[in-house]
Amino acid sequence: MTERFAIFGHPVAHSLSPVLHAANFASLGIDAAYAKMDVPPEDLAGALAAAVADGCRGLNITVPHKQAIMPLLSRIAPSAARAGAVNVVEFLPGGRTVGHNTDVDGFFADLDAHGISVSGRRVALAGCGGAGSALARGFAERGIASLAILNRSFEKAAALARELSATGADVSACPFPPSAPEAAETVLAADIAVNATVVGLKPDDPSAFAPGSFRPGQTVYDIVPVAHETATCRAARAAGAAAMDGRGMLLRQAALAFRIWTGRDADIDAMSAALARAGLSG
Ligand SMILES: NC(=O)c1ccc[n+]([C@@H]2O[C@H](COP(=O)([O-])OP(=O)(O)OC[C@H]3O[C@@H](n4cnc5c(N)ncnc54)[C@H](OP(=O)(O)O)[C@@H]3O)[C@@H](O)[C@H]2O)c1
Repeated sequence: MTERFAIFGHPVAHSLSPVLHAANFASLGIDAAYAKMDVPPEDLAGALAAAVADGCRGLNITVPHKQAIMPLLSRIAPSAARAGAVNVVEFLPGGRTVGHNTDVDGFFADLDAHGISVSGRRVALAGCGGAGSALARGFAERGIASLAILNRSFEKAAALARELSATGADVSACPFPPSAPEAAETVLAADIAVNATVVGLKPDDPSAFAPGSFRPGQTVYDIVPVAHETATCRAARAAGAAAMDGRGMLLRQAALAFRIWTGRDADIDAMSAALARAGLSG
């Protein structure tokens, strides 16, 4: 019998999750279908109940439902509790549901796969929306030397910095229009700079960071998963920094989701080839 999986988002047409998972199912010989479901916020509870009733094997959850789904689930796994967001739903016997987060572990797994340790490093993170704040929490618990959170709405960065400082980590907030000299100095001083804003999603977007933010020896990770090279990655390479784009995080969060649903390792190469065919070849 065909196993059923889906992603809930609104909008969801742009999602590459069906491409990734279909390639993996085909490579591993799994008879499965993965649907894109555009679920408006007011229909979220009903769509989840329908997925349970239909015997759905696994769900991905994307914007704007990553927080809203949490109270609807039977249990929240530690990964999602720490991140404050769910991007994977696991279905247990008896209609029980568990919310997980694989975005954060996917991001750090990709750094690991590139031999980059965050322990003892100074980190500058731009953006503290859903993805950025989850990554900030992930950095704070990984033994970093310091974390500077830059966000256009400064008060959000300040509140998150206060929350994470209470755990004993060295976390500060920095004003972020990128043109603020303080922002460029903070990013330049970091060993690892991360763009977790939406700047870069459009091909003509500028770099998320001001000129003069990058230097050799730095790793610049732009989590925006797009087909074009972002201006942030271009600027990082031009300054001699190592640039990483959002494809690795996308692949690894999908592989971790597959393991939660099936207990099996995904075929990362098959997923990566499918991403390239979909235009995300970097
Ligand atoms: N590679 C992956 O697997 C992966 C996974 C998840 C997310 N992502 C990417 O991560 C990015 C953020 O997603 P999200 O879910 O966190 O979105 P979100 O919750 O809507 O947050 C958006 C963030 O971008 C900032 N921002 C928006 N417009 C800006 C501008 N013009 N200048 C500077 N900052 C701006 C926002 O600042 P304010 O707080 O001031 O509004 C906020 O920090 C997206 O590009 C998404 O595609 C990638």
